Amino acid sequence: MAIESSCDDTAAAVLNHQKVCSNVIANQHIHAAYGGVVPELASRAHQQNIVPVVDQALKKAGISKNDLSAIAYTRGPGLLGSLLVGASFAKSLSMGLNIPLLEVNHLQGHLLSHFIEDEFPQPQFPFLGVTVSGGHTQIVRVDDVFSMQELGATLDDAIGEAFDKCGKIMGLGYPAGPVIDRYAKSGNKHAFDFPRPKVAGLNMSFSGFKTAVINFLHNQQQKHPAFIEDNREDLCASIQHTLIDIISDKIVQAVHETGIKEIALGGGVAANSGLRQRMEQLGEAHQWKIHLPPMAFTTDNAAMIGIVGYYKFKAQEYASLKQAATARLPIN
Ligand code: KG4
Ligand code: ZN
Repeated sequence: MAIESSCDDTAAAVLNHQKVCSNVIANQHIHAAYGGVVPELASRAHQQNIVPVVDQALKKAGISKNDLSAIAYTRGPGLLGSLLVGASFAKSLSMGLNIPLLEVNHLQGHLLSHFIEDEFPQPQFPFLGVTVSGGHTQIVRVDDVFSMQELGATLDDAIGEAFDKCGKIMGLGYPAGPVIDRYAKSGNKHAFDFPRPKVAGLNMSFSGFKTAVINFLHNQQQKHPAFIEDNREDLCASIQHTLIDIISDKIVQAVHETGIKEIALGGGVAANSGLRQRMEQLGEAHQWKIHLPPMAFTTDNAAMIGIVGYYKFKAQEYASLKQAATARLPIN
C-alpha cells in the first residue's frame, strides 16, 4: 500500500510487485476558489479524505488490510502539513499491522513511475529524467533506481506554476495548465512573442516569463478591455509554446552535455499535449528514446510512490517510525 499526500491530492494505491492493483485519488476542489493551493485547507482535506481513499484502494484491489506486506508513504518534498497527514497515517498503519514502513521521495516517484508494469518499454539506465510539475522542474541523471543526480533545475518558479499563474491572470481557474493545453490546440502559437530567459548551464527560470506575460496582458487590457477573451486561444498557444521552448532547449543541451539519449518525463506538465508532441518530434529528429508516462501517472498519484516503495522493500530499506516528514528533500 502506498500513500501520497504531499500537496493537494490525497492518494492511495495497492501494488503487487510492479503491477498496480488499484490507484485512487481524491482531488481537493476547495482550492479552485482561491486560485492556488491553500496549505492549511489542504491538510484538513487530507484528514477528511485519507480513510475513505485508503479504504477504496483496498476494496478496488480486492484485498483486506491484513493482506498488505508493507506501507510506503511520501516523506517529502511538499507542504509540511499535508505530508504529516499521510506520514502519520502510514506510520500508524504499519505499527497496527506490524509490517515494514517505507519512506519515499516524491521526486523519485515521478521519475520511477516509468517502472510501473504496463505495455510500454521501461527506460534503460542511464537515462535523463525530466520532472515538470507544479512544484518542481529539474533535469536528473538517473544511473539506477536509487542513484540520481540533479543536473539542472529552475532557479525560481516551476513550469507548472508558470502555466497556473498565467492562467490565473486569464481567468482560467486552478489548475490552469490543462485548460491552457485545451485552448492552445485551436490557437496560433506564433501570435505573441514572449521573452525566453537566458540562464547559464542546465538551470532554468520561469518567473521573468510569467511577469512578462502578466505585464503584457495588463498593458493590452488598458487599450482593449476584452483583449484576453478575444485572444484566448492564441494567448494560450503562445504561452504554452514558449514554456515548451524553455524546457526543451535545456533538454537538448543536457543530451549534448551527457551523451545520454534516453529521456523520461515525469510530473503533471508531462500530461501537456504540446510538450508530449515536442518530445516525440525531438526523439524522431535526433534518434533519442523518449518515455512519456501514461496519463494516469503524470499528475500526483500513489502508484508512483508504490513503485519506489517496491524497490525499497526488495532492498529491505525500511524506514524508522522516528523519521519525520520534511518539506524540503533533494532527489538524491
Ligand atoms: O505533478 P503534479 O500533480 O503536482 C506537483 O507535484 O506539483 O503537477 C501539477 C501541475 C499543475 O501546475 C498543473 O497545472 C500541471 O501540472 N498540469 C498541466 C497539465 N496537466 C497538469 N500543465 C500543462 N498541461 C497539462 N495538460
Ligand atoms: Zn508531484
